[in-house]
Amino acid sequence: MPPSKRNSTRKTSSTIRRIAINTGGGDAPGLNAVIRAATLSALNQGWEVVGIRDGYHGLMMPANYPDGGLIQLTRERVRGITHMGGTILGTTNRGNPLKFPVMDKRGNVKEVDRSEELIRLIRRNRIDALICVGGDGSLAIANVLAQKGVRVIGVPKTIDNDLDKTVATFGFDTAVSFATECLDRLHSTAEAHQRIMVVEVMGRYAGWIALNSGTAGSADAILIPEIPYDLTRVAAHIKQRANRGRKFSIVVVAEGAKPLGGETSVVEREIGRAERLGGIGERVAQEVEALTGQDSRVVVLGHLLRGGSPTTFDRLLSLRFGAAAVRALVEGQSNVMVALDPPVVRYVPLEQATRRMKTVPLDCDTVLTARELGISFGD
Ligand code: F6P
Repeated sequence: MPPSKRNSTRKTSSTIRRIAINTGGGDAPGLNAVIRAATLSALNQGWEVVGIRDGYHGLMMPANYPDGGLIQLTRERVRGITHMGGTILGTTNRGNPLKFPVMDKRGNVKEVDRSEELIRLIRRNRIDALICVGGDGSLAIANVLAQKGVRVIGVPKTIDNDLDKTVATFGFDTAVSFATECLDRLHSTAEAHQRIMVVEVMGRYAGWIALNSGTAGSADAILIPEIPYDLTRVAAHIKQRANRGRKFSIVVVAEGAKPLGGETSVVEREIGRAERLGGIGERVAQEVEALTGQDSRVVVLGHLLRGGSPTTFDRLLSLRFGAAAVRALVEGQSNVMVALDPPVVRYVPLEQATRRMKTVPLDCDTVLTARELGISFGD
């Protein structure tokens, strides 16, 4: 029996005529490849395919869109998009239908659950099944919709790689490859000026991007949320290098990294959306400069990590995920997420996939490798 069959959770037998695809949360390279593969696979089944604009906004606020919020996905519409960054459907990390921000008469903002209304809209628009492409937030919404009877397949997207039950999310490889290239470029200027370059990368509360790019890009220190850091240790490591004649250093800092006994650096909190992290790179650069007396500069890679064409790995993974999502529907499955479990793509219950965040295990072999290469984690 193929692995996908063994892992199926709920079998649904009713006929599919029309499916919808949406993309939610921060964009990641590979979204368009998923859309193309899912669309072509579904069209091959004789199904009609529509794309919902901007997460669920196209369904919930159709009047805001000249085309009514739904895009007809035809062969022509998905032609030539595999290599393109972004998403032809648009995306948003605002307006979670489970925690929709509304203002009461007193001007206070509170969160309202609009899932029942969304389900009515899904039915009114004759959508028999939904393919939700997103990260933890989007897949948690997908899970609730599935629990309430909507036929849903999730596709794991995020540059952060923090989704559980899949070896990789699409977008991650592209982000790591770009960050590594940036570290390569920064080495020469750091060495020329004998400086400390502090490079802040995204990743939310997981250190995957920092760990993988920092190790591949020969950083001297990597600071990740999973290992609270002590900058005196980083400074000692940098000074030791200087004593050996290496008068420059590269420090990679995950945006969610925090000092021992300290807090994550948050730039913004807003009702109805995840808190925005940032600022840690600047803090680390200032403190390391003070501790070492060496000139420091900070580079924040930020949204550059989300742009551009997906790498070959991410393109292929996205195409495999998109096709597998439709295969799951053909098999009668619902409430599952497609997941990479090399060499195959499997299906795991959405409920399991969204239960916890996948952070870097402290004993994983990349951490061990980095330590053996002499990279400091500030611990
Ligand atoms: O989850 C993807 C991600 O890029 C995180 O790494 C980052 O913290 C966040 O999204 C940034 O979100 P925004 O696009 O709202 O600035």
